[in-house]
Amino acid sequence: MINGDRLWNRLLELGTIGKQPSGGITRLSFTKEERAAKEKVASYMKEAGLAVYEDAVGNLIGRKEGKEKDAPAVLVGSHIDSVYNGGMFDGPLGVLAAVEVLQTMNERGVKTKHPIEVVAFTDEEGARFSYGMIGSRGMAGTLSEEELVHQDKHGISLAAAMEEAGLDPGKIGKAARRKGSVKAYVELHIEQGRVLEQANLPVGIVTGIAGLIWAKLTVKGKAEHAGATPMPIRRDPLVAAAQIIQVIEQEAKKTGTTVGTVGQMQVFPGGINIIPERVEFSLDLRDLDAAVRDSVFLSIIERAKQIGNERNVDVAVELLQKMPPVLCSELVQNAAKEACRQLGFDVFTLPSGASHDGVQLAGLCPIGMIFVRSKDGVSHSPEEWSSKEDCAAGANVLYHTVLSLAMTA
Ligand code: GLV
Ligand code: MN
Ligand code: MN
Repeated sequence: MINGDRLWNRLLELGTIGKQPSGGITRLSFTKEERAAKEKVASYMKEAGLAVYEDAVGNLIGRKEGKEKDAPAVLVGSHIDSVYNGGMFDGPLGVLAAVEVLQTMNERGVKTKHPIEVVAFTDEEGARFSYGMIGSRGMAGTLSEEELVHQDKHGISLAAAMEEAGLDPGKIGKAARRKGSVKAYVELHIEQGRVLEQANLPVGIVTGIAGLIWAKLTVKGKAEHAGATPMPIRRDPLVAAAQIIQVIEQEAKKTGTTVGTVGQMQVFPGGINIIPERVEFSLDLRDLDAAVRDSVFLSIIERAKQIGNERNVDVAVELLQKMPPVLCSELVQNAAKEACRQLGFDVFTLPSGASHDGVQLAGLCPIGMIFVRSKDGVSHSPEEWSSKEDCAAGANVLYHTVLSLAMTA
């Protein structure tokens, strides 16, 4: 069994880095908070007896050699960046549980056939650049220099942020792993939903990860005086945007499975007595079925354009990214099921509505995930919570899953 106290204490300790007065955690990629978190995790990796290094996209990696040095590695990890004002479990649980698994193996003198690497992926959340999964894209060999043009709120590009962090954007290709060099990727994560809680179970095995679309919508109208411009002749982009947001809700609701969210909005120039000239807002749209999601997206665009015509404003839609839904491999699911049986947990499977680095790695190796019960299903919020016992239960399932993947051919 893993050491649940050690895991919990590290979760609490890491949870102090980037802590806001509001109680939430903000640890955006390539910031001093993220650097401090990486240094802390690197110190845990060293305590666990791992060889620590960072790759060309800033993924923090701790490696335990296998009996067969050149055998494909089993990767286990998650991320330590956060959303704005997030919680202390989304990401850190998976990284710290992976460190705990390897520390327990080393303390017991467990030698595996395959090398095992703990990975804390760079920028999973995409909070800073509205893009995300930078580290896993880099490792999968799918990250191109052109993608590094995405900018943060202050106009700093991903490439510039990487340079500031001491990375060379021209060398991101070096982070790519060769096909065949990775046996599997497994991640422990909080569920971020209510399914396990309702089933009264501490852990579950993930069947697949929903695919997301991220887009930016820009509505342009005409800036005019708020007092002197009669209502009938206005070209107000914000009122059009409000209508489009209603459409997003209606179209997503129609399918019963799709979820659509507008989480960012900026109004320009932003004066109390000026009809806005321009409004920009984000769209996050997800479904486990790519065809359903895509048809909702098309309906939203069509209705948005109609609204633009009716209100005499321009509506532009920029696709930021589109990820396919991804199935978790039988290899990892079966290893996790067997781990649950060994530990006396019910074997329970569920899909993931949230996205994860496994989506990017699925082209490189078999992937899989294990979920831990989330209190009230809340996450991306300071209220995110999973109990110490459930975190330890998940880490124990992870231990046996990783052991089986790393032992067998
Ligand atoms: C990451 O947490 C995401 O699903 O957006
Ligand atoms: Mn996460
Ligand atoms: Mn998240």
